[in-house]
Amino acid sequence: METKYINFKENSNNDFLIEAGSALRSGKLVIFPTETVYGIGANGLDETAVKRIFEAKGRNPDNPLILHIVKMSMLDTIAQNISTVERKLINAFFPGPFTIILNKKSIVPNAVTAGLDTVAVRMPSNSVAKELILSAGVPIAAPSANISGKPSGTNIEDIKCELMNKVEYIIDDGPCNIGLESTVVRVIDGVPTILRPGKITAEEIKEVAGSVKIDKNVFEKCSQNTKVLSPGMKYRHYAPNTKCVLVYSPNNDNLVAKINELVEETPNSLVISCLENADSFHSKYVFNIGQSDNLEEISKNVFSTLRKVDAYHVDLIIIQGVAQVGLGLAIMNRLLRACEYNYIEC
Ligand code: TXA
Ligand code: MG
Repeated sequence: METKYINFKENSNNDFLIEAGSALRSGKLVIFPTETVYGIGANGLDETAVKRIFEAKGRNPDNPLILHIVKMSMLDTIAQNISTVERKLINAFFPGPFTIILNKKSIVPNAVTAGLDTVAVRMPSNSVAKELILSAGVPIAAPSANISGKPSGTNIEDIKCELMNKVEYIIDDGPCNIGLESTVVRVIDGVPTILRPGKITAEEIKEVAGSVKIDKNVFEKCSQNTKVLSPGMKYRHYAPNTKCVLVYSPNNDNLVAKINELVEETPNSLVISCLENADSFHSKYVFNIGQSDNLEEISKNVFSTLRKVDAYHVDLIIIQGVAQVGLGLAIMNRLLRACEYNYIEC
């Protein structure tokens, strides 16, 4: 299949979005930008189109997709029995990097929800995403744009390597603003429970709903057989092929010393470091992902860096962690999974 590439960042002609929107409606796949990461979209009400997403990504059909909407009236076509707490969260965080799990209506195909009676819903704030969904006129099912297991696509160069000729359209809007996927929340017994941390933080959710919980599987490894609230938690994700270890200490001297100890043990290694430590490591290669107190910058860089490192053919990738507060929770969740929970705290 030939992919039509639309360079929207250089030619922001709305006709492209009308064309891609109507292609979506008629069953085609479109890679499109959102403020978090790029998505591979299909008409979320068309089972055949949705199944093509799973094929293109090599995704297990038991892992459900998010439906992306552009206006509140679309919400009521796909979800029902929305509680007061759920409404509060929706009003506070739509549009934005926030996904909520709701009771689904029967119009939502089983392929989207992997047979669950719930559906994940998000209203992105990126203007290209909004125009595209508006033009399609239907909710758009879209997982992150990457081959399953790989880091989510945050720029078109990375995405082209994996997904060119597997979709009908690619819309390039430059690098994503946030760089990490949306916060996924399910309200359980009236308490918002974070199933995947993201830009909307636990602190912000608590402020709106009065309470918040973080599901234990956000930080614990679970096996294929574990019963999880969100199927995506079970899968290997974000992982380079090279073995990785994540190291964190609240004391920076200890952190640097520990990483250098690991470098000494495995000289053919690479360090992913925060800016202020980048000159402190005795390693062959050091990648800087941003200043440790600039979590926005680290979020933006984390996936593209994880994609680069395999090319260096080292025996070990050592990653400097950050404090698990605010956006740091989301960053550490992705890094832990990239390292397959190989974690040292010192
Ligand atoms: O920022 C994002 O959320 C991006 C952009 C494209 O919107 N999308 C994204 O989709 O990250 P994906 O498919 O890569 O991750 C969706 C996560 C998966 O972990 C999936 O298991 C979970 O949401 N999920 C989807 N539907 C669910 C449901 N009904 N119940 C529980 N978890 C669900
Ligand atoms: Mg994904």
